[in-house]
Amino acid sequence: MSHAPEPDLDAAALRAALASSQLEASELRSELEETNRGVVALYAELDIQAEQLRRATELKSRFLAYMSYEFRTPVNAIRSITRLLTDHVDGPLTAEQERQVGFIESTTAEFAEMIDDLLDLAKIEAGRVEISPAWFEMVDLFSALHGMFRPVVVNPATSLIFEEPRELPRIFSDNRKLSQILRNFISNALKFTPQGEVRVSATLLADDHVRFSVADTGIGIAAEHHAAVFDDFSQVDSPLQKRLRGTGLGLSLSQQLAKLLGGQVSMQSEFGKGSTFSVTLPIRLGRVNTN
Ligand SMILES: Nc1ncnc2c1ncn2[C@@H]1O[C@H](COP(=O)(O)OP(=O)(O)OP(=O)(O)O)[C@@H](O)[C@H]1O
Ligand SMILES: [Mg+2]
Repeated sequence: MSHAPEPDLDAAALRAALASSQLEASELRSELEETNRGVVALYAELDIQAEQLRRATELKSRFLAYMSYEFRTPVNAIRSITRLLTDHVDGPLTAEQERQVGFIESTTAEFAEMIDDLLDLAKIEAGRVEISPAWFEMVDLFSALHGMFRPVVVNPATSLIFEEPRELPRIFSDNRKLSQILRNFISNALKFTPQGEVRVSATLLADDHVRFSVADTGIGIAAEHHAAVFDDFSQVDSPLQKRLRGTGLGLSLSQQLAKLLGGQVSMQSEFGKGSTFSVTLPIRLGRVNTN
């Protein structure tokens, strides 16, 4: 005997199933709508926070720029007065006074350097740095740097060597900014190399880039500090660091400058053996990027 169809029962079950799935769908829809509203609210909040962050960064840059600019006048005044004293304009100084004035002079020079670094960083952050690219020869850049550092190398145990940049093409970039990066690298290398050598070189890479390197045989940097050396105000804790002054801005500034020149900085270092800091730049700076 075959089962007779039970149309009424089937239709009722179908209706019930439909109703329940409709209910489910509408619950799902309202859940989705709620989630959507949540996402929209989160986006709005993110927008507000991004705007606040942008304004905070802008204020910080402006504050840095004003502050460092305002500091220049009094610092220059101190330097001029110190020069009057060291030039004996108002009569000779005793040996002790000479020593003390010398101390004021070197501290003020450091302070002035720090102000300049802060001002440069603030300008870069505010996107107000002018890049003036031009063609130049690397030999000229190296010989200018050599001249600049000749009077600075006072430690006879450390030699500063510039490898002749052979067979390198002319490069189209901002040579003052490149020189600023290399000066930062070289002065660090000299500072952290009590004895040995600091070697400056340039290599042509395959993809129309040039790498400038400053390699030293100094104290080196332990691996755990590698990630932080390019950060603002970062200094590695070491006995030598404690004796030497600095603000920890040099490398962060170099990194920013390299980016402006379409390149990048890098570092290799082994604790106790030495460090190599490099900047890689395109031979020809393309679109001028001011932030
Ligand atoms: N060639 C190097 N050898 C060993 N340590 C280095 C070398 N270059 C940099 N460092 C470490 O990285 C830190 C950051 O360098 P950076 O140039 O930014 O600051 P600084 O030299 O201390 O101060 P500033 O350059 O602002 O006067 C240094 O304090 C030092 O600890
Ligand atoms: Mg430095």
